[in-house]
Amino acid sequence: MADFVKVAVTSDIPTGQLRSFRVGHTDIVVCNTGDGFHALADECSHDSAPISDGDLDGNDIVCPRHGATFDIHSGAVTGPPAVIGIDKYELKIEGEDILVKID
Ligand code: FES
Repeated sequence: MADFVKVAVTSDIPTGQLRSFRVGHTDIVVCNTGDGFHALADECSHDSAPISDGDLDGNDIVCPRHGATFDIHSGAVTGPPAVIGIDKYELKIEGEDILVKID
């Protein structure tokens, strides 16, 4: 069972921004939508682009390569060309710390 790992502090990721981190051997993207922070796999399921190079569009994260979109709350596909969702990771805030758990 994995433990939560600190990846950043909340001030590192302003509202509307996203950043990539490596936790163990896993690349993740953490985004701040203004209503909270979310952690997802930093690899598009369509052609493996790092989605941390993309943008947020409301509750979606947009892949920079071909424009697939994924719901930041679940990792589910919300727009083509991807057809498979991406992993979503547990995230919690303790004080100013952002902690993520990768199983
Ligand atoms: S690599 Fe992301 S949409 Fe193609």
